[in-house]
Amino acid sequence: MDKYRIIGPNRLIGELEIDGAKNAALPIFCGSLLTSDPVFISNVPKLKDVETLLKLFSELGVSIELNSSTATCGLQTASISSLEAPYELVKTMRASILVLGPLLARFGEVKVSLPGGCAIGNRPIDQHIKAFESMGAKVTLVDGYIHAKCRKLNGSRIKNDMVTVTGTENIMMAACLAEGETIIENAAREPEVVDLAIFLKSMGARISGEGTDVISILGVKKLFGAEHKIISDRIETGTFICAIAACGGDVFLRNANINSIGVTVTKLRQSGTDISVDKEGLTVTSKGKPESVSVKTAPFPGFATDMQAQIMAVNLVSNGTARITENIFENRFMHVQEMKRLGAHIKVNGNTAVVTGRERLCGAEVMATDLRASAGLVIAGLVAEGETVIDRIYHLERGYADMDKKLANLGADVLRVNQC
Ligand code: EPU
Repeated sequence: MDKYRIIGPNRLIGELEIDGAKNAALPIFCGSLLTSDPVFISNVPKLKDVETLLKLFSELGVSIELNSSTATCGLQTASISSLEAPYELVKTMRASILVLGPLLARFGEVKVSLPGGCAIGNRPIDQHIKAFESMGAKVTLVDGYIHAKCRKLNGSRIKNDMVTVTGTENIMMAACLAEGETIIENAAREPEVVDLAIFLKSMGARISGEGTDVISILGVKKLFGAEHKIISDRIETGTFICAIAACGGDVFLRNANINSIGVTVTKLRQSGTDISVDKEGLTVTSKGKPESVSVKTAPFPGFATDMQAQIMAVNLVSNGTARITENIFENRFMHVQEMKRLGAHIKVNGNTAVVTGRERLCGAEVMATDLRASAGLVIAGLVAEGETVIDRIYHLERGYADMDKKLANLGADVLRVNQC
């Protein structure tokens, strides 16, 4: 299994390029299923999750022209050869659930393996199902598969019980081809939801209110081909800012967009990290040894749960004590035990971790347990003295392209090692 070997401590100096956002790319690719016309997407991140989705697309019969060197992808679903997302693919990537809405709306039927629980929590999809039922679909669970069918979907007023990102995206996509108006209340306001809405509108969808908690969609008969550039990844941006905050350094993050990462920037500035904006990106400078910062995760515009492990890593070497409260997922502290192996002082009480900064961390062997936990461990490994080996970095590679190379270009001693 592939690992990262990091020798620390490191200081990060130089420039790197932020890729397109994973969590915008996945729904936007799924949005392309709503039309028979060709769709052209640019700023496509080179990620395992994108590969997995394209594997699913090729099983569905989508024609795919991926060009990694230009980070572009042409997709066309002129017709469909299967309406099923199999267990093998859904279990490796829950976002496969995002084919549910588009396929149901366009073809009147879809079968998607019910995603099980995962490393960060139970993650049910009851809100997606409830919404499709209220739009007139018949949804059954057979042999572990959600089977949804409809003659046509009707617009509906849907109030989600909690803010759900892929739930909002799935409903919004389905509603584009439904008859009449759909209103989503308590909708997710994440920048990735907005990017998806912009893409759907360029295909001819009639959507308003994206970026607020009420989204209205007036169904149309047909959507058309379009071109779209994916927004830059706010979580990759935030992750590198955390790495610089913890290690110290001076780095230009090309293509980083400050508007989508508001609270993360505020928190990291409070830690003593200097973040300045120019039109091509962000310059981040830090002397290292940050001040501690407490956070509570919340839906956008609150502090992102996808940044929780990374801000915890910053606090491991801070001056003071921080409280990190996880409010979105019930089991997203798997990195805590691994961070303790590096000498971290963390006490978990329910959904709050109390982190007391240490003068130094010491390298050790640790295990990545999920995508963002891995990113937190990389940051901790960069700061720790001596050798840290992070096992199971396939988790990391689901959501970060070439993190080892990007860090090595900033002068860090990071090596990806292949060990069978
Ligand atoms: N929830 C339900 N029922 C539902 C849907 C959600 O109870 O039908 C609960 C979840 O269990 C969770 C909360 O609502 O407690 C929020 O979950 P949400 O549906 O928003 O999560 P998601 O859409 O499955 C997306 C991102 C995650 C990110 C979360 C929260 C994608 C592809 N995934 O997941 O990203 O953590 O929103 O912001 O957009 C990651 O990139 O590492 C990642 C996990």
